[in-house]
Amino acid sequence: MRHKRIMLDVLKGEAVSPPPLWMMRQAGRYLPEYRETRKRAGSFLDLCYNPDLAVEVTLQPIERFGFDASILFSDILVVPNALGRDVRFEEGRGPLLTPITAAEILALESETFHVNLEPVYETVRRLRAKLPGETTLIGFCGAPWTVATYMIAGHGTPDQAPARLFAYREPEAFARLLKVLADHSAAYLIRQIEAGADVVQIFDSWSGVLDDVSFEAFCVEPVAQIVRQVKAVYPDVPVIGFPKGAGERYRDYRQKTGITGLGLDWTVPLGLAKQLQAGGAVQGNLDPLRLVAGGKALADGVDSILKALGDGPLIFNLGHGITPETPVAHVEAMVKLVRNR
Ligand code: CP3
Repeated sequence: MRHKRIMLDVLKGEAVSPPPLWMMRQAGRYLPEYRETRKRAGSFLDLCYNPDLAVEVTLQPIERFGFDASILFSDILVVPNALGRDVRFEEGRGPLLTPITAAEILALESETFHVNLEPVYETVRRLRAKLPGETTLIGFCGAPWTVATYMIAGHGTPDQAPARLFAYREPEAFARLLKVLADHSAAYLIRQIEAGADVVQIFDSWSGVLDDVSFEAFCVEPVAQIVRQVKAVYPDVPVIGFPKGAGERYRDYRQKTGITGLGLDWTVPLGLAKQLQAGGAVQGNLDPLRLVAGGKALADGVDSILKALGDGPLIFNLGHGITPETPVAHVEAMVKLVRNR
């Protein structure tokens, strides 16, 4: 017998106990089987564009831990790559892009966008066919602001100073970049849903570095645009937003953007999280370093989240991606703690 996809029930606002569980970056370097596949793939982007191998690594954490949701294996930077920008990943250095100029933004080329992303859509189709019926398949993209920060700086930075400065100095080019990214990201999510994604998540990992005016214009507005475009085609597909570091701005983010589920980073106070649950499902928010440490630090973290949020619509997750040094045994322990509630 096939069980229900409990994550979809929670996204409709139901409380399910024990809550559905998955981890951001659940396919990754903390898993020995991922590191093995990774060696066969060539570059990291080769892995993202190889449906055989991308399916294999997507399924690894499902086979090992039986998570309730599977997230497509890809990266947020395939979108600028499909728009013709050079993207590379170097061991230990993270992503490297050729920084985009204002003139290049005006010339961003998109004719082959979906053709370039076809391997990703193929991965989603194969995943939907292979996953257990009860496992929810999550597609995703980066939010325009977060993707733009990498396109402008060319690499990760601690405070996104290059992108903030660019936005202030070149407001027109920057607005066009956000618009191009929002339109293409929406089209990208729509194709992922067509291919079989049940839910989509929009990662705004860098929304915490902006002032009030910029947060509205660079984070809220472009994400609202994406949600409107996706909902125009698929009104019933839930969208999870993850505005990492949004702090006080978490309060009205759901209502302003139109997202269904709200992804919480680990700094969101559980009292606030409880209030946010009144508006719908929340997802999170264990500090990934509690999972690295294990033991009492892990047990206390899981316990406090379940106590505060377990009676409302909750998707248990980390408050950001799992880190490579996390012991697999600690992930097993977390699964037991959540499921044996
Ligand atoms: O969650 C999953 O399991 C799905 C796959 C996934 C990856 N990246 C795989 C990946 C997802 C959802 C992402 C999203 C992503 N990528 C974000 C948003 C979420 C977040 O973590 O804030 C961002 C900002 C990126 C950009 C990116 N990709 C960075 C900064 C890095 C380098 C940091 C690192 O961990 O190495 C990547 C590389 C990356 N993306 C890896 C994986 C598994 C590691 C590369 C490798 O295996 O060689």
